[in-house]
Amino acid sequence: MTMDELKRQAATRALEAVRDGMKLGLGTGSTAKHFVELLGEKVRAGMKVIGVPTSEATRADAMRCGIALTTLDDVDRLDLTVDGADEIDPRLDLIKGGGGALLREKIVAAASYRMIVIADDSKWVSALGRFPLPVEVIPFGLAATRRAMAEVFAKCGVSGQMVIRKGTDGHVFVTDGGHWIVDAHLGRIQDASRLAGLLSATPGVVEHGLFIGLASTAILAGRQGIRVIERD
Ligand code: 5RP
Repeated sequence: MTMDELKRQAATRALEAVRDGMKLGLGTGSTAKHFVELLGEKVRAGMKVIGVPTSEATRADAMRCGIALTTLDDVDRLDLTVDGADEIDPRLDLIKGGGGALLREKIVAAASYRMIVIADDSKWVSALGRFPLPVEVIPFGLAATRRAMAEVFAKCGVSGQMVIRKGTDGHVFVTDGGHWIVDAHLGRIQDASRLAGLLSATPGVVEHGLFIGLASTAILAGRQGIRVIERD
């Protein structure tokens, strides 16, 4: 089975949690895209849901699939968000942002009663940090922000290269919010919760890819089958 087939399997299982009338957060990335496509099939078969997309790419996909869309200004809390991740640890803390949509993804996840994270099982790790941590920053004063980030990393016992993300065209990658992303190659993060708090308090940092305590369920598809893990 290919990686893409595993992603689709995880998305298919997540669809079982969707009920008629739900308000849904729609994630970003190749795994979330499977979920949006499968949800579109349900909608075309008569299911009524309304979605809040976490990126312009997902907005376009959802519209193409015929899914009705709204914004967080027009609805109260969302019933469920389904999104992918770059890393998932045993507490169901995550690294997200490989696709550059971490800011909207976190706002949408935090506005949801429940977040299901879907992935192929290569995303499961014993500790976060092998995947470079995406940090969304304001371009203004970037050198100062990077120095402050390095101090935060040192306080948390991690260090590593900080790379400004480039797009496939070789230019600086610009997020949907007009910001840049610094990918921090930290290695094993001992205390992700502390690092998350300190990064959030750093001027110039708009958001970071540590999703602490947001996911309630992980659906991991592997060659041996599907594992559903609930947060304690
Ligand atoms: C986008 C994300 C994605 O969910 C994450 O990068 C996983 O993507 P994929 O499903 O393509 O592996 O956080 O910002």
